[in-house]
Amino acid sequence: METGEILVIDLFAGPGGLGEGVSSCVNENGNKPFQIGISIEKEPSAHRTLTTRAFYRKIYELENGLDSYNSYLNGNITRSELFKRFPKQAQEAKQETFFAPHTLGEDNSDIHARIRELVASHGTRPKVVIGGPPCQAYSLAGRSRNAGIVDYKAEKDDRHFLYKEYLKVISIAQPDVFVMENVQGILSAKVGGEVMFPRILKDLKAPGRVTKISSPKYKVFSLVVNADDPTNPTYADPKDYLIRSEDYGVPQARHRVILLGVREDIERVPGTLLPREDKTTVEQVIADLPALRSGFSKREDNAKDWEREVSKNATRVKKLLRKQFDGAADLDLTPIKNLPRSAALPVNEPLLMPEHLVEWYRNNAPMCVLNHETRGHMDSDLLRYAYSAAFTILSGGISPKARDFPADLAPAHDNWNTGTHADRFRTQVANKYSTTVTSHISKDGHYFIHYDPKQCRSLTVREAARLQTFPDNYLFEGNRTQQYVQVGNAVPPYLAQQIGKVVMDLLSQIE
Ligand SMILES: C[S@@+](CC[C@H](N)C(=O)[O-])C[C@H]1O[C@@H](n2cnc3c(N)ncnc32)[C@H](O)[C@@H]1O
Repeated sequence: METGEILVIDLFAGPGGLGEGVSSCVNENGNKPFQIGISIEKEPSAHRTLTTRAFYRKIYELENGLDSYNSYLNGNITRSELFKRFPKQAQEAKQETFFAPHTLGEDNSDIHARIRELVASHGTRPKVVIGGPPCQAYSLAGRSRNAGIVDYKAEKDDRHFLYKEYLKVISIAQPDVFVMENVQGILSAKVGGEVMFPRILKDLKAPGRVTKISSPKYKVFSLVVNADDPTNPTYADPKDYLIRSEDYGVPQARHRVILLGVREDIERVPGTLLPREDKTTVEQVIADLPALRSGFSKREDNAKDWEREVSKNATRVKKLLRKQFDGAADLDLTPIKNLPRSAALPVNEPLLMPEHLVEWYRNNAPMCVLNHETRGHMDSDLLRYAYSAAFTILSGGISPKARDFPADLAPAHDNWNTGTHADRFRTQVANKYSTTVTSHISKDGHYFIHYDPKQCRSLTVREAARLQTFPDNYLFEGNRTQQYVQVGNAVPPYLAQQIGKVVMDLLSQIE
């Protein structure tokens, strides 16, 4: 296949994890067959991230392209100065992200018209639709939030039906293949007492029935389990559609439903992802990032006061932990001196990172680390972070539950001890893969405590991005909270690349 031969229509694109993964696929001829034609995203900061990345992909191989991009990353030139240096590519990047944030369901006439145009100009060459309708309404957290809303009616929550926007685009574009991603909760979500998943599956197999647009039918494959009958794929268990990202080299337990739709007239059967034998750990992917200190959220912040506070906490934590662990007295919790809170610094040698990931993360990496800035924490939380990180080391990799915290470290929460907040504070264990990075990381860092008590802090956006396998030169635009949301929402690009290869192999077998 030639470079750009496969037109990609990217819906609900977020910061572009899926798009990044497929765009990076290279075939045996050294070509990159996937070319994003349009990415639709409604949230302005994610849209800005998408445009910056689309632009990067268009210029990094041009003369002065990478240098100019790095000048922007280093803060030496503004984004508009960068775009002015490559006006044609800037225009193409803006067109790729449709010039502005757009909302599926509200801006359909423009979106659909553009998709029709792209499809028509692409002729008979292959097309794919990627993306996932947002997951808040299906996710377990979203469902428990909804449960707290008086008079909440799932059947009135439009977000349950956003997948129908996806169906409309499939009907219009009639792609050879679609890749639809969603949270695990989609398998069990109910609307008006009806379990939604069988209906969603049925609708995806025959989108025209719902959209009333004449449309081909689709077979829906799992990417991890072989179908009982490849001509009419069925699976014994809906969980067969579930992908455990940690099995595919992602340093994170991210379990997502990913459906691979193949147009009915295509007789070839797609392959499945190849699990890796080794698991990637948190430490392998973040240990080389510059050490940082956290800050204070409710009082004036400076390094000396922070060191004093963390030292004081260290003494207290050791005393508390001596009652629980023999080795507590020997644990060194002394804060690292003179740490910055953000680092425009080069990364250290990625000594622990496996070679294939060094290539993945560090390819065309900038000199300085992007989006690597710590948050401020309350004094009481700093103490809990120290306790949690130290406990995790002493226990050999178990982050403490609420019940493990000494009473005087317990937050003033009525339900701290009821079990619902058992994981209110969670240290990401150095030598395991992390728990799921969700957009909740934007709210506070309590679920994402760094394993190093000497830094006593939660993870930065860049560390979360590493857990999500974004390359180091992937810039998240917007403020820090928006950056965290974008990272938490994304499909890990490293996984998306593997999915892209399955699609690329399938499409390259078709005449
Ligand atoms: C789970 S994220 C998608 C992640 C993305 N597929 C990736 O690979 O990084 C869902 C995104 O859909 C966006 N979104 C939600 N409703 C939308 C709508 N009606 N139209 C366009 N975008 C929407 C959200 O802002 C969010 O960024």
